[in-house]
Amino acid sequence: MRSLSAWLGLALTSLVAAAPAGECAHKVKESVSPPRGWIKGSPAPTDHDIELRIALPQSNFAELEQHLWEISDPFHPRYGAHLSKEDVEALVAPHDDSVQLVEEWLASHGLAGDALSRSPANDWITVKVPVSLAETMLKTEYHIWTHAASGDSLVRTTSYSLPEHLVDHVDLVQPTTMFSRFKRMSTTYNSLQRQSSIMATDPGYIPDPSAYGGQVNASCNATITPTCLKQLYNAVAYEPAAAGVNKVAATGYLDEYANHEDLQMFYAALLPQAVGSTFSVVSVNGGLNNQTPAEAGVEADLDVEYAFSLSYPTPATFYTTGGSPPFKPDDLEPTDSNEPYSEWLSYMLSIEDPPQTISTSYGDDEQTVPYSYAKRVCEDFAQLGASRGVSIIFASGDGGVGDGDPDPATQECYSNDGRNVTEFIPGFPASCPYVTAVGALQYVPEIAANFSGGGFSNYFPRPSYQNSAVEAYLSKLAPGTYAGLYNPNGRAIPDVAAQGVNFQIFWDGSPYLVAGTSASTPSFSGIVSLLNDARIANSLSPLGFLNPLVYALGTISSPAFNDITVGNAPGCGTQGFNASVGWDPVTGWGSPNFGVLKDIVLGNTSALWSA
Ligand SMILES: *[C@@H]1O[C@H](CO)[C@@H](O)[C@H](O)[C@H]1NC(C)=O
Ligand SMILES: *[C@@H]1O[C@H](CO)[C@@H](O)[C@H](O)[C@H]1NC(C)=O
Ligand SMILES: *[C@@H]1O[C@H](CO)[C@@H](O)[C@H](O)[C@H]1NC(C)=O
Ligand SMILES: *[C@@H]1O[C@H](CO)[C@@H](O)[C@H](O)[C@H]1NC(C)=O
Ligand SMILES: *[C@@H]1O[C@H](CO)[C@@H](O)[C@H](O)[C@H]1NC(C)=O
Ligand SMILES: *[C@@H]1O[C@H](CO)[C@@H](O)[C@H](O)[C@H]1NC(C)=O
Repeated sequence: MRSLSAWLGLALTSLVAAAPAGECAHKVKESVSPPRGWIKGSPAPTDHDIELRIALPQSNFAELEQHLWEISDPFHPRYGAHLSKEDVEALVAPHDDSVQLVEEWLASHGLAGDALSRSPANDWITVKVPVSLAETMLKTEYHIWTHAASGDSLVRTTSYSLPEHLVDHVDLVQPTTMFSRFKRMSTTYNSLQRQSSIMATDPGYIPDPSAYGGQVNASCNATITPTCLKQLYNAVAYEPAAAGVNKVAATGYLDEYANHEDLQMFYAALLPQAVGSTFSVVSVNGGLNNQTPAEAGVEADLDVEYAFSLSYPTPATFYTTGGSPPFKPDDLEPTDSNEPYSEWLSYMLSIEDPPQTISTSYGDDEQTVPYSYAKRVCEDFAQLGASRGVSIIFASGDGGVGDGDPDPATQECYSNDGRNVTEFIPGFPASCPYVTAVGALQYVPEIAANFSGGGFSNYFPRPSYQNSAVEAYLSKLAPGTYAGLYNPNGRAIPDVAAQGVNFQIFWDGSPYLVAGTSASTPSFSGIVSLLNDARIANSLSPLGFLNPLVYALGTISSPAFNDITVGNAPGCGTQGFNASVGWDPVTGWGSPNFGVLKDIVLGNTSALWSA
């Protein structure tokens, strides 16, 4: 196996820059190869403002992680004993030395008091500075970089430095080296087909032993509705009983607005009892909420229509998060063009009472997010999962083992690290071991959808909860299969799957069909929210981080998940991996059986094996 540094392409040699008299020596903190597909343009305007986010090392992440494993392991006596917000903050608070040294450095550049904003645990500090000052502080030069394929521009650099004495007191500073292409998971392979009306239903039923009543409406093979999902995932009979305490949420980025009128039309057509119920909108980091019908987002509408219909009448929140706009050269507003997860996470970690189930259908190619940043954001997801019991659910991606670009000519299955070798492209944050990644299925009986994102992280090692599942899968591969194209020791995705093709949505006032792991993710999240409802209604804690439970159930071949064994997801000029018996990197453990899962999470051990 290649060393981590080779995978990451980070310059590990420390270059000490010559220090002018009176200044302390700087040391290179991070240096990356110029990323593929980006063209370096003119120097950034010196008066352009950027929001620098500075991450301070967390004092005790290892202990936090140990808590997370214990409280999410169904065989551990502490299962479900989630930590409080304050417990988590104490574990990740940076050392006083780090805080003091970083504050002194900022003060020496005139940044103090109100100029600094901090995360609740004090482990992130944000300052707004003009490019000229950022260049002095980080001994770097920012340029305007343009993404050739899209024309989007960013203000970035490929290397930055810190005063030598600070190098171990800062994990990272961004935006510097981040060139990620944050994307929706329903914009590539998926089709957005306008319909003249709701599809006529095929009469009759398709037998399906794990479905509610052992059968599914025949129409579900061509058009997925909330009723289809409740039938397929055996949730028809369940009436939520903890609405009010239990809550569900979907996140929106990239100016995707969830439209209230579209949701009402969707409910009128497909879930009449929910007509009149709505969701609240919370703005994070200046996120907008434009309700003009034509401004509705396909992704946002899909996410709220499915996550919220399945969990109805559970109170629902849509988070609209600002940030990540492309740089406009004539605009001197600060560009808050980091990846927006850290903004959203800072907000979530600051509130007392977060929703127990949160669905996100956005992501990046892992390799476009600098390792240092991916690692910190992933650790922040661990904080959210460990504290107060939040289940964090992400789309695994729409490109099979590739990057989701349907055009082989522009598909970017090349490493971004300067070596330019062909390799599979996993998605982030799905590749973070502290979130649950959802792949896509289609048809009744269910098979893998051929775009279902899957594979192995090049950043995060395989967590122990996956060991037996992933080793069993790898041992079935013919020796040498895809050698060098993937990291067999990496965190493997997805964890689970759900339907992701031919979803009936309403968007901009009309019915459409849409597809993507974007559809699978709110569907799976809706089912998880019902499980949280059952737990809370029975005075139990919410499920929190799901994966140790999911893998424990999968490993004993519990009927809690419907194993998907047909299909594959091509990419990078290969046929990709195959769905197979047990866990596989196309469909994970398969789709949920809510009825069985509900019995299990309420402590009915006879449900572990009997269907
Ligand atoms: C299919 O599901 C709908 C509810 O969405 C129901 O009204 C209908 O009777 C079902 N059966 C058939 C054969 O369509
Ligand atoms: C579902 O649709 C697929 C694709 O059209 C078809 O191959 C399959 O036979 C259908 N399943 C049933 C049970 O009709
Ligand atoms: C990377 O390799 C591919 C295939 O050999 C080639 O087409 C491409 O131009 C290379 N890109 C760079 C940046 O060297
Ligand atoms: C995936 O299946 C669709 C039809 O369902 C087909 O049009 C598409 O070419 C397939 N994609 C790949 C990569 O095989
Ligand atoms: C997938 O299955 C096909 C058909 O059985 C087989 O030829 C191929 O080698 C398998 N691919 C992998 C990666 O296991
Ligand atoms: C326990 O689970 C089994 C299988 O799901 C179910 O048949 C049984 O009714 C459940 N028992 C209770 C008390 O809920």
